[in-house]
Order: sequence, then C-alpha cells, then structure tokens
Amino acid sequence: MKKLLVTGGAGFIGANFVHYWMAKYSADKVVVLDALTYAGNIANLDSVKDDANFTFVHGNICDQALIETLLVEHSIDTLVHFAAESHVDRSITGPDAFIETNIIGTYSLLKAAKKVWLDGDSILAGHRFHHVSTDEVYGTLSPTDPAFTEDTAYAPNSPYSASKAASDHLVRAYHHTYGLNVTTSNCSNNYGPFHFPEKLIPLVITNILHDTALPIYGDGQQIRDWLYVEDHAYGIDLVLQDGRVGENYNIGGDNEWANIDIVKTISKLVEQEFIKNKDLATRFPAAKAARAQNTESLITYVKDRLGHDRRYAIDATKTNNELSYKPKESFETGIAKTVAWYLNNEAWWQSVMDGSYQNWIAEQYS
Ligand code: NAD
Ligand code: DAU
Repeated sequence: MKKLLVTGGAGFIGANFVHYWMAKYSADKVVVLDALTYAGNIANLDSVKDDANFTFVHGNICDQALIETLLVEHSIDTLVHFAAESHVDRSITGPDAFIETNIIGTYSLLKAAKKVWLDGDSILAGHRFHHVSTDEVYGTLSPTDPAFTEDTAYAPNSPYSASKAASDHLVRAYHHTYGLNVTTSNCSNNYGPFHFPEKLIPLVITNILHDTALPIYGDGQQIRDWLYVEDHAYGIDLVLQDGRVGENYNIGGDNEWANIDIVKTISKLVEQEFIKNKDLATRFPAAKAARAQNTESLITYVKDRLGHDRRYAIDATKTNNELSYKPKESFETGIAKTVAWYLNNEAWWQSVMDGSYQNWIAEQYS
C-alpha cells in the first residue's frame, strides 16, 4: 500500500491522475496539495472528496515547512509532482510565476523530500519522487526530424519550457548528488475532461458553443502529439511501479496533428453531435450548429505566438519496451469522449471561467 502526496492534484492532469489512482488502488492513501491558482479547481476532485483515504490540503509547494509536515504526518512514501504554471502563452506575458512555482517550488519539494526521507536517523526505503515534465524541454522539430527520445538534448524555447527544464535538472541532480529516488516522465500534449478552457482543445469546444472565433496562431500548421489524459496517468503508474530510479521516460500518443486539422475535426464532431441530439440546439442556441450553419466559418487566423515551437513528437520506444506501455485510447475515441464530456459538463466549464466562483470554493476548503 502506498501513501501518495500529489502536488497540483486539483489541476487538469493531476485530478485525472487522482481519479485513476483511487479507482485502481483503492487502499492507497492520497493527499493532494494544491494552491488553487486560477487553473486549480477543488470541484475537479468532487468524486473522491468523501473517500476516507483522500485528504485535500490547500497550500503552496514553495512552502518547504508545510511539505515536510505533510511528508511526516501522512507517512508519505511517494510524491507525484504535477503542480506547475502550465500555459505557454501566460509564460510569455508573465514569466515570474513560472520561475517561482516551476523552479523554486520544485526545489522546495526536493529539499523537503531529502530532509525527511534521507537526512533523518534512517533512510526511508522505497521512497519515490516522481516529477511530471513535458516534451517541450526538448525544443522544436522540423517536419522531417526524428521524434524526441530521452537522449535528445534539452533546448527549451519558452519561459515555460525553460522553467520545466530547470526543474528537471534539479530533480536529476538530487538523485545524482544525494541519492534521492527520482523518476521523471516527459509527456506530450494531453487532452480530456477537466482541461482548462485556455488550452487549444477545450478553448475550441467552448468557443464553438459560445459562437466566438476559433483563433489559429500563425498558419495553423504547427504540430502537436496528442495523448488522452488517462493514458498519461497510466504511463505514470507504470513508471511508479516498474520504472528505474534516476531515469527519464517519454510518454506520448504517436499521434501527430497540425493545429488547423484538430480544429476542423472538433468542428465536425460538434456538428455531428448536434445532428444526433436535438436537445443540444436548445441548450446551446448560440452555436452555429444549432442553426445548421458551418462551424468552420468561426476559424480566424491571428498573430502567431512569440517563439512558437513548430513541431513536437515523442518517441516512446523506451517506455513501450521497458514498461510495456501502450496508450489505451485511440485519438478517434479520445476526442469523441472529450467533446461529449464538454457537452455534458457545461456547469463545470462555465464555473472555471468565472473567477469569483473559484475564489469562493477555495474559501470553503481553507
Ligand atoms: P494545470 O495548469 O491544469 O494545473 C496545475 C495545478 O497546479 C493547478 O491545480 C494549480 O492550482 C496547481 N499549482 C500551481 N502552482 C502551484 C503552487 N505554487 N503550489 C501548489 N499548487 C500549485 O496543469 P496541467 O496541464 O494539469 O499540468 C500538470 C503538469 O503536467 C505540469 O507540471 C505540466 O508541466 C505537465 N505537463 C502538462 C501537459 C499538458 O498537455 N497539459 C503535458 C505534459 C506535461
Ligand atoms: O507539449 C506539452 C505541453 O502541451 C505542456 O507542457 C503544456 O503545459 C501544455 O499547455 C501544452 O502546451 P501547448 O502550447 O502545446 O498547448 P496549447 O493548448 O496552448 O496550444 C496547442 C497548440 O495550439 C500550439 O501550437 C498553440 C496553438 N494554439 C493555441 C491556442 C490556445 C492556437 O493556435 N490557438 C489558440 O488559441
């Protein structure tokens, strides 16, 4: 039985990981630590909040003393670190929070883990610090370059990816220098339920329903490798169970799409849903599909993102071979589930787009 501290567990991937973990390992104890920034939402954890094995703590990963207390009081043996500022566009307009949370916050967690797990009277056998990182640390690819492997040299291009790269290096150093049991996973773009509507896929779905423009940065030919979020949780599970300490593991969907094609695919899927379910026209009267009009007409080319990476692609051969990893969801099934989730969970996305609700709900738990 494991005792997990999950940082950032009220965010998109963290919450999906907590759902996955508690359904699969119901005897494990799970403590979520989350600062509930604009991206964190306690309602993402509604389905587990009453479970006796679940605890939510409202706090910041930069608070080393708090982390030490949590590690000791809950006898934590496994720390899974999701907490981060995660949106590239925000890192371009305001990098400070990214340096603070992604670098200083990770450093604070490492210091706390070292102090509690390694520096006491005895070393905690079997402890694990798992760091959740991104493919963006490897930089950008041309259309013909081979995909990123774990040996690809780091070349981060945005303040976000540079801050993640810095945190990856600190994690590596704490293993090499102090012997902390670390693993790191570098994953490609996730999509699925609870994805904050500032990111491409949920933004497109919610904008279609509001009948607002679908902004395409630059020429829309940038490529991302999309993975259903539950398959990311599954990959982390395998790394935690069988991954070798001190190693990095790439996790990806082998599923490259140009942005413009993703947007067109989602537009068609939403239209099909409106044809199948007549009730949607009543619930979302603003949507073009409610009037049998062409959703793609909302596509609007806008100024490109500064320093926009052209292509990401993950070569997950090591993870596939060593850990027998294979995503369970195809893109076809994953994106259909995702569109259906947003159509069925209007209350969730309307509420996370309303900051006052988020502040109010955070107060309920502080
Ligand atoms: P997110 O922005 O949806 O969630 C981040 C969570 O961290 C939020 O709940 C937020 O409240 C919390 N948080 C932020 N700062 C904090 C702090 N100082 N202390 C405590 N909690 C804090 O992010 P996400 O998309 O779920 O990403 C989770 C992790 O996965 C990140 O480390 C990100 O770099 C990585 N990642 C994301 C993707 C992706 O496609 N979204 C892909 C690969 C890796
Ligand atoms: O690759 C993993 C990364 O994927 C994670 O590390 C990040 O945390 C996560 O946010 C994501 O980064 P991206 O920048 O790739 O995701 P985003 O959804 O912001 O954008 C996806 C692509 O779509 C990117 O090429 C920019 C483009 N885009 C995005 C938005 C929000 C648009 O063309 N229009 C938009 O309005």
